[in-house]
Amino acid sequence: MDIYDLPHSPARRRVPVKDITTGGAALFWKMLRLRRRKFIEERCAELILTDEKLREVCQRLLVEINRGLNKDTNKEATVKCFPTYVRELPNGEECGKFLALDLGGTNFRVLLIDLGPHIFHMESKIFAVPQSIMLGPGTGLFDHIAECLATFMHENQVDVSPLPLGFTFSFPCSQEGLTKARLATWTKGFKCSGVEGEDVVKLLQEAIARRGDIKIDVMAVLNDTTGTLMACAWKNPACRIGLILGTGINACYVERLDNVQLWDEDHDDPKQVVINTELGAFGDNGTLEFIRTEYDRTIDQHSLNPGRQLFEKMISGMYMGEVTRLVLAQLTREGLLFDGMGPETLFEPGQFFTKYVSEIESDKKGEYTCCRQVLEELGYDDATDEDCANVRFICEAVSRRAAHIAAAAVACLLNKMGQKHVTVAVDGSLYRFHPHFHDLMVEKIRQLINPGLTFDLMLSEDGSGRGAALVAAVAVRIGGLAAR
Ligand code: BGC
Repeated sequence: MDIYDLPHSPARRRVPVKDITTGGAALFWKMLRLRRRKFIEERCAELILTDEKLREVCQRLLVEINRGLNKDTNKEATVKCFPTYVRELPNGEECGKFLALDLGGTNFRVLLIDLGPHIFHMESKIFAVPQSIMLGPGTGLFDHIAECLATFMHENQVDVSPLPLGFTFSFPCSQEGLTKARLATWTKGFKCSGVEGEDVVKLLQEAIARRGDIKIDVMAVLNDTTGTLMACAWKNPACRIGLILGTGINACYVERLDNVQLWDEDHDDPKQVVINTELGAFGDNGTLEFIRTEYDRTIDQHSLNPGRQLFEKMISGMYMGEVTRLVLAQLTREGLLFDGMGPETLFEPGQFFTKYVSEIESDKKGEYTCCRQVLEELGYDDATDEDCANVRFICEAVSRRAAHIAAAAVACLLNKMGQKHVTVAVDGSLYRFHPHFHDLMVEKIRQLINPGLTFDLMLSEDGSGRGAALVAAVAVRIGGLAAR
């Protein structure tokens, strides 16, 4: 039996607080509170990673990235380091109208982007991807994408002549050119049959052909990390890393061709290529066991892709709420929280969302307005200040661990690149909505990078969609038709 299957502890009656807070009794209860907190801190100690451990994470990630880049070891490597075929970054001179598709989570976006020298105008529409489609046949998914695209094109009256299109497809793909990407494996709760191993651009084109009412010209397929990097590089030439901290996690960076043994195209200028690391799979060969906990193992065992994306499962928005829930549920069972009688929903998988962690940590220190709201939403309106303080402590332990290991990954890339100053473009709901993630990361990256290096983290909002149009635009600017 694992901690998913453990029953909720039998409910005990809570002693009314007013009866016990005077005189010697008050002192007794204060001591009890302090003791409980000490136990909670001890139980959460495994979630606190020392700098020594984080340095070890950096070093192990570097080993895995090098294994990914090396032709002889790439096959067995977990961090695949796919070359993206994106070699030129935007210079702000790109012009024209472009369509972009952005698929990477439960929402799918279609965008129409009008680019001029340093001007950007964007129309976009969000469509839901129902779970039945996420788990159904691949043709169903691509028919849905084509239908949304057609609706958008008709509504925006851009269905007459074919427009260039950039397709952001945010799953691990092995690229065979700027417009050819084979899905290696699904992540983030998708499991459509018949897509793994296939070229997703071809599947998109086939779905569009089945409809026959729209025409597009696919100029590029890319990952959201590349889109994020491109969107930021359009404004800021120091930008060399794209990082997503959202439903999933991943990073890309600009690598010198000499370091990419996998690269078997020309070595002409610019002697660089953006590498999609797919570092969410870091740890899938056991190398992160020294920091994984029982909670991480439970989440993995109950996921759609056990044994895969183990680094992602310790950090990303799809899993962070669940890690927190497992800790809260376990400590409640042990009688350390809610007098052992927490809300029933705490014992149901998937009922504690990552956004709750962000909300709870948004309260000012010592205030618990948001925390109480979250607990009420979970069906518990009886929380004491002690409960709230302890719930917040646990949320902080889980999110700090996530921010620190994400920081270790960024520090690893910065140290590897060794450039004096690098801007890291970041997007994703976890980074955007968690009140302290940015600061926690900045502080830790500073401690982990080599002396003499500097960096900044820049929010690249909507980067994955805008970046798709920019990759298409750069391809058009440098004669991308030939590059395809
Ligand atoms: C995918 C990556 C993607 C990341 C962020 C991961 O699950 O494997 O391709 O970049 O999520 O969306």
